[in-house]
Amino acid sequence: MERIVISIGGSVLVPDKSDRSYIESLAALLKELSKEYKIYVVVGGGKIARYYINVGRALGAGESYLDELGIAVTRLNARLLITALGDEVYDKPAKDFDEAVYAGETHKIVIMGGTHPGHTTDAVAAMLGERIKIKRLVNATSVDGIYTSDPKKDKNAKRIEKLNYDRLIELTLKTRKGAGPNIVFDPLAARIVKRARIPLCVVNGRDLNALKNAIQGKEFYGSTVR
Ligand code: UTP
Repeated sequence: MERIVISIGGSVLVPDKSDRSYIESLAALLKELSKEYKIYVVVGGGKIARYYINVGRALGAGESYLDELGIAVTRLNARLLITALGDEVYDKPAKDFDEAVYAGETHKIVIMGGTHPGHTTDAVAAMLGERIKIKRLVNATSVDGIYTSDPKKDKNAKRIEKLNYDRLIELTLKTRKGAGPNIVFDPLAARIVKRARIPLCVVNGRDLNALKNAIQGKEFYGSTVR
């Protein structure tokens, strides 16, 4: 069975207003696709992680400790998705890649959050993908692709439909400065998808049709890196 890793942003899964029906629909889609693929999902921290990181920083915590707060929230979000998935999923967030590999031997779907300080769940998804030799990595995020700059801040930002790994690395270079939010894709993740030659599909995670097409390797609205 082909293996797919999906990296899903925390703000996609846990938006500002509680949205049980999105999580139910996402879980139904993952269950349906798990008949065709072995599915691994890496869940991000979103706004809740950002809240802890910002308040923790104001209280004087160091960056790697703030990363630990972020990791704890990613695992909490991962548990919410696990709750919606029922019997077919490994019933706790895998803490590291060994556990994810082990869980994948007996379960159709494996969920994890962060692992170590110093990167985001995009990098976790890329490293997991490298480890288990995936067909493609799908990044389900809050924008509908990779843009020339942050489309939420720059109205002249343009979506790039197809790009190569070096262009992706170039776009991510300015991003990571400490714990907390990053634009587009983690620069470490970008280097890992390049070295492992993993095709990356970036899609709006709230658009379940586009997400499904991206997972299945069909045409989708978003960006493709290869
Ligand atoms: P996210 O993966 O959600 O990062 O992890 P992000 O890019 O900041 O958030 P989104 O994608 O916009 O929602 C949240 C935070 O948790 C820590 C980092 O501080 C990260 O910013 N983290 C996460 C780690 O330190 N290591 C991990 O493996 C994962």
